[in-house]
Amino acid sequence: MADFVRVASLGELPVGGLLGVELDGQKIVLAHVDGAVYALEGICSHQEALLAEGSLYEECLMCPVHGGEFDARTGEAITLPAMDPLRRFEVRVEDGDILVARPG
Ligand code: FES
Repeated sequence: MADFVRVASLGELPVGGLLGVELDGQKIVLAHVDGAVYALEGICSHQEALLAEGSLYEECLMCPVHGGEFDARTGEAITLPAMDPLRRFEVRVEDGDILVARPG
């Protein structure tokens, strides 16, 4: 069973927002889409951009460097130059805290 770790409070992540966190040294970007929180690898799969510095429009997460886009719900790359998907992590929200499953 996955080991979930608190990474932030829900109050730090408004709907439509992004937040960069770290778990075991791994950069993760949290995205709050339509009332649900998603956690993805925090470094763009194209080059070395921090996705928490990008933008979120509905479920579309845009990289701040070359504008590649990902589906924040699945990690799927949807717009070039992003081609490879982002790793996705399981998320739970409990008592106002955001918990992410430790990478296994
Ligand atoms: S670094 Fe993200 S699209 Fe190029």
